[in-house]
Amino acid sequence: MIHLQVELHINGQEKRLEVSKSDSLLDVLREKGYTGAKRGCDTGACGFCTVIVDGEPEKSCVTPIAKADSTEVRTIESLGSQDDLHPIQAAFVDNFALQCGFCIPGMIMRSKALLDENPDPTERQVREALSDNLCRCTGYKKIVEAVLDASDRMSDDETVAADGGLPADVAFESGCSCSCSDSSGGGDE
Ligand code: FES
Ligand code: FES
Repeated sequence: MIHLQVELHINGQEKRLEVSKSDSLLDVLREKGYTGAKRGCDTGACGFCTVIVDGEPEKSCVTPIAKADSTEVRTIESLGSQDDLHPIQAAFVDNFALQCGFCIPGMIMRSKALLDENPDPTERQVREALSDNLCRCTGYKKIVEAVLDASDRMSDDETVAADGGLPADVAFESGCSCSCSDSSGGGDE
């Protein structure tokens, strides 16, 4: 096995890691405990493993670890906690946008990347953004509604923040133990 050293910034923390050259980013994340990123197809087809790399949503199962060297990686663990959900997570819960939950971490990270780039997307833009992420349970309608709701919530939070309140993205390092981000929740690891 050929090893190499990589440096990743994962959820704001610098990590120097020795990895196998054949590892994917998903292999390394899960090995290091970031098991919110789910392994579905492992071939780039389902989107369950989606994380944000340098601001872009990426399917980590088909991202070679060498390609991820020196990047900023955000996983679902960087969002809210069970007691303090990120607005996207709260919108998914309140809109009943999850059933088994296995696709949800990838859906939420894909939605986060979309809303970071386009805070006020149309329904069509949401559907296009999520088109690489599959869900076998929900029929997508409630997921799309949740993302649109999250957009409203985040713009309300931005207004509050501008008035001196806390920003929407408050729990960068806290990790979430609810079914939409936890390593054990939302289906089998
Ligand atoms: S597990 Fe990565 S796309 Fe399916
Ligand atoms: S909730 Fe999407 S696969 Fe089950």
